[in-house]
Amino acid sequence: MSAVELAGLRKSYADVTVLDDFSLRANQGELVTLLGPSGCGKTTTLRCIAGLERAERGEIRIGERLVACPERRVFLPPNRRDIGMVFQSYALWPHMTVFGNVAYPLRVRRRDRRERQRAVMEILAMVGMDSYAHRPVTELSGGQQQRVALARAMVARPAVLLFDEPLSNLDAKLRRSMRREIRDAHDRSGGTSIYVTHDQEEAITLSDRVVVIRGGKIQQVGTPKEIYTKPATRFVADFIGFENLLTATVSEARDGSTAVKLTSGAGPVWTSKGITRAPGTEVVLAARADELEIGSPGSPGEAPAAAIPGVIRSRTYAGGRVEYLVEAAGAQVVVRAPEAGAAGSTLEAGSDAWVRFPVDAAVLVDDDNAERAPQAAEQTVESVPLRGAT
Ligand SMILES: Nc1ncnc2c1ncn2[C@@H]1O[C@H](COP(=O)(O)OP(=O)(O)OP(=O)(O)O)[C@@H](O)[C@H]1O
Ligand SMILES: [Mg+2]
Repeated sequence: MSAVELAGLRKSYADVTVLDDFSLRANQGELVTLLGPSGCGKTTTLRCIAGLERAERGEIRIGERLVACPERRVFLPPNRRDIGMVFQSYALWPHMTVFGNVAYPLRVRRRDRRERQRAVMEILAMVGMDSYAHRPVTELSGGQQQRVALARAMVARPAVLLFDEPLSNLDAKLRRSMRREIRDAHDRSGGTSIYVTHDQEEAITLSDRVVVIRGGKIQQVGTPKEIYTKPATRFVADFIGFENLLTATVSEARDGSTAVKLTSGAGPVWTSKGITRAPGTEVVLAARADELEIGSPGSPGEAPAAAIPGVIRSRTYAGGRVEYLVEAAGAQVVVRAPEAGAAGSTLEAGSDAWVRFPVDAAVLVDDDNAERAPQAAEQTVESVPLRGAT
């Protein structure tokens, strides 16, 4: 039984502090993803867990074991932490065959020859590479090398698997199928996995829980559905693909619903999703382009109440839908609408249009441009495994 727990971790390189008071828990059996932009400290976090970096402060526990704590002079080397790691660069030994690479962790653990043979062939069959056992790894494609790296990380059945952007060198189609294989491998291993990515789609489709990181600080922790539908801050909303982020002020709040006026004066827009704040509070209205409606003021029976007038600046075919960039409410609003839906109205670049936020199309989020202190640390400790939750 091996949960992974980081408490109050601090890690700096020279005079740059990458992680400060960083706390996180992945429960036994969970696949937790660390999602954040380049340089936010994802790899640093993984390397601290693996024992490839030493933190200056804080604790790391794997299961019941304290594996690192500078204050108590505890530091277990990587080979004593019972982990397997998959790197973005594969990091296979080029002078060895597929078999040799995958057998290596078992040699280090002094497993006997027969046991090595059995375990290696079993794990290679699982990743579909058993017929390549005697090939030099230099004669494999990128996807095949990544499968070998996965087999090598798993062969000794470690309690914890760490993945550092393992799929970013693969093409989009292979990435999707490997994603499923990694999820299967995690489920079969029965262990705990921590997976690092900057790809929001990967995080959403793969994880039990997602941890969004910005500049070494946790912004939000939640199930993929929570993160996707209820981002807590502007940063998370932006990172998770909300194309529209409009500053607004709460004008009315009742029965769990909130009306906001956009900073440009347009509105009110009503929603019951996201944070609730008192009238007068500045917030951000976050909306996905696919959830907004667009129409032409010239069409009879249209222009519903609460529609915001604007002008279409551009119109791009987006495969089944059309993406409109509309200047409305003093901002650029992106709307993606079915091509057929716009029938009868003139929705060309340069023409007038209205944009409507259907109730609940938008989510209210906090404006974190002022680097508001996140409150996520408590959230992580309380959370329970949510395997299978959507
Ligand atoms: N060995 C090092 N020496 C000095 N600074 C480092 C070192 N390794 C990382 N850093 C710095 O620490 C910060 C966090 O780096 P880290 O590799 O953890 O980011 P990341 O989230 O994994 O980014 P990416 O998505 O680009 O891999 C960055 O500013 C980076 O420049
Ligand atoms: Mg990295």
